[in-house]
Amino acid sequence: MGKVAVTAAVIGGAAVCAAVALLVRHQLRNSSQSSRAAAILKEFQEKCGTPESKLKQVADAMTVEMHAGLASEGGSKLKMLISYVDNLPTGAEEGVYYALDLGGTNFRVLRVQLGGTNGGVVDQEFAELSIPPSLMVGTSQELFDYIAAELAKFVAQEGDRFQLPDGRKRELGFTFSFPVMQNSIVSGTLMRWTKGFSIDDAVGKDVVAELSSAMERQGVEMHVSALVNDTVGTLAGGRYTNKDVVMAVIMGTGTNAAYVERSQAIPKWHGPQPESGEMVINMEWGNFRSSHLPLTEYDNELDAESLNPGEQIFEKLTSGMYLGEIVRRVLCRMAEESALFGDTVPPKLRTPFILRTPDMSAMHHDTSYDLKVVGNKLKDILEISNTTLKVRKVVVELCDIVARRGARLAAAGILGILKKTGRDSFKDGDSQKTVIAMDGGLYEHYTAYRECLEATLKELLDDEVAEHIVCEHSNDGSGIGAALLAASHSWYLS
Ligand code: GLC
Repeated sequence: MGKVAVTAAVIGGAAVCAAVALLVRHQLRNSSQSSRAAAILKEFQEKCGTPESKLKQVADAMTVEMHAGLASEGGSKLKMLISYVDNLPTGAEEGVYYALDLGGTNFRVLRVQLGGTNGGVVDQEFAELSIPPSLMVGTSQELFDYIAAELAKFVAQEGDRFQLPDGRKRELGFTFSFPVMQNSIVSGTLMRWTKGFSIDDAVGKDVVAELSSAMERQGVEMHVSALVNDTVGTLAGGRYTNKDVVMAVIMGTGTNAAYVERSQAIPKWHGPQPESGEMVINMEWGNFRSSHLPLTEYDNELDAESLNPGEQIFEKLTSGMYLGEIVRRVLCRMAEESALFGDTVPPKLRTPFILRTPDMSAMHHDTSYDLKVVGNKLKDILEISNTTLKVRKVVVELCDIVARRGARLAAAGILGILKKTGRDSFKDGDSQKTVIAMDGGLYEHYTAYRECLEATLKELLDDEVAEHIVCEHSNDGSGIGAALLAASHSWYLS
């Protein structure tokens, strides 16, 4: 072999060795990275665990807090607010009524013609608008003027089909879905904001007075006849169509529950005992917290960086505003520590709330063989291209962990109410049915979440009892419910 050939062979051999070494190092790095990603996922999954025993502890803690919240004002993280609704709709409500529903990403205005006994809802019309994000953090007057102006436009479109008796002003049920300390069915002060709203000057003010002044400024002539939380509206709307409805749960941007309590069982109620012996309680269960909740570092960080740190912990684990954000936070950690998406962390992945729960839901429900929807969402929302099937599977798995934890905890919350009201056990010969009116975008659109919630509730109850408990979707019942409560609390009733 000549000198040149030997040199070439040596150089060639060295190049091959270097290439092999690089490949091995790369593979080693890849496999150690992917095992790091798997470890992060596994650790998260373990911390999110919700075995039946834990859920029962959560349910018991919920029941205990319900008692404490009913005993005295400020007795618990659960506000257990008195709604002043001591009679739910009977079906006899009659006339044209308006409703205004404010409290999530959208707000709605609605008018219904109620037909009286056996007449049901004869006619209804609604308009839905989104709240400009700037108004969620602006001033009270800006927010209320905006909704009153939209209400004015809607009233102006009222057709002949809706008949207001002569000499009467229009009446409105106002669904305001935030914690409000009510003083009557038509007044109450805002205690604090939730769900990303933060308008300092509205806290402590009477929300009906705020709305009424805005309506006056916008030239809307209307009485506000009922102020209700969306859970209370949903309960009223649900009861109108089904006599067995005794509680309502919202799983949407936020989460909350209302139920019918015996008025004698509310020590903090010092008013006259209602004839019905009942009072609807708005629990504000979003603010529930307990040492039994499976909180992870991601939840703690989300909470610390939120607009309302330390508050709404149950809501931050279970509701639509936060589920996608939890997924984003875990993905971000994986990208940092295991280069899940390449050598650098994709910048969009660092943007809080960029991954919305509807997108998470779409990824979670992706049934295509190559998880195409997941690939497209990662590309469109987070600008991460060319993801492998393995990476997409990790994303789906993560969505599953976060959604299941939320849904199972929500089921435990419902069990807590069933326990408080004695509906969690079966008494011989008792055929009492319990219907739970459910609403909210998360419940309506996130199928895996809804199915997991309902299956978990069954899992937590004895078979016989489970047969008598039904979750019923009450589609936008809160708006109709507010209109019905405006009717039963009409200014014109003697
Ligand atoms: C938040 C609000 C509560 C509302 C719930 C569902 O938790 O504080 O009032 O019922 O969201 O919209």
